[in-house]
Amino acid sequence: MVNEIIPVVILGAGGYAGVLQEILALRPDLHLLGCIDKAFGLSERSTDEHYSLPILGDDDTLAQIQAENPDLHAVLGLGPDLMEVRVRLMQVLDLQQIPPVTAIHPRAIVSRTAQLGDGAVVAAGAIVGPGVRVGRHCVINIGASVEHDAVLGSNVYLGQGARVASYADLRDNVVIEMGASINSRVQIGTGARVTGGAFVNTDVPDHAVVVGVPARVVRYLPS
Ligand SMILES: CC(C)(COP(=O)(O)OP(=O)(O)OC[C@H]1O[C@@H](n2cnc3c(N)ncnc32)[C@H](O)[C@@H]1OP(=O)(O)O)[C@@H](O)C(=O)NCCC(=O)NCCS
Repeated sequence: MVNEIIPVVILGAGGYAGVLQEILALRPDLHLLGCIDKAFGLSERSTDEHYSLPILGDDDTLAQIQAENPDLHAVLGLGPDLMEVRVRLMQVLDLQQIPPVTAIHPRAIVSRTAQLGDGAVVAAGAIVGPGVRVGRHCVINIGASVEHDAVLGSNVYLGQGARVASYADLRDNVVIEMGASINSRVQIGTGARVTGGAFVNTDVPDHAVVVGVPARVVRYLPS
């Protein structure tokens, strides 16, 4: 049986899309077609002379790309400052029945008993422990770690070096920024944001922004 090469488009063309580009370029089973992006007037996404990808158009181009590539797959390439756009694009992928690609850097460590949802991304140096459940379209960025039996809902974004301890429960659309730590068994509510370097020792309400050590709520994001 001949294995088909899967065509893939990255949704977004900023710096984080470059991280994805490097991970996906290592996969011989994938053919990266390019990026789509509303915000950038660039003609290509390029990390260096070896990796450059055309920017194929904006979100409206997706249907056309799918028509030309019936087995099209996609991955969200937008960072944590664009969470609402990530949510909208997740819905677009579901509606258009475009399957997400799950991308794991070869230098990440993922337990064989961890479960990763479709479209999840695990970057270089990240660690995902035994029994961890990671939802669809989550990002575990460079050097972040998730200890055993923690649960991440869908579209959770862990920034570089973030640490999530055992049995922590992060609900959908949570952002844990660079270097923040979530203690064992703590629950982080839907859409909440933990700012860089915070240490979270108690549950965080939905849509709250927390800062500091120990973390305290400073405001709420619109739900
Ligand atoms: C960028 C950042 C510092 C924003 O700070 P800000 O604009 O001051 O945010 P706010 O106005 O909401 O801050 C409210 C309060 O919380 C404090 N605060 C904000 N972020 C904080 C942090 N990380 N640690 C401690 N206190 C913080 C502010 O000083 C402010 O305190 P004050 O009311 O006593 O003046 C914060 O969001 C952050 O930590 N970002 C991390 C970004 C990251 O992960 N970068 C990697 C990108 S790839």
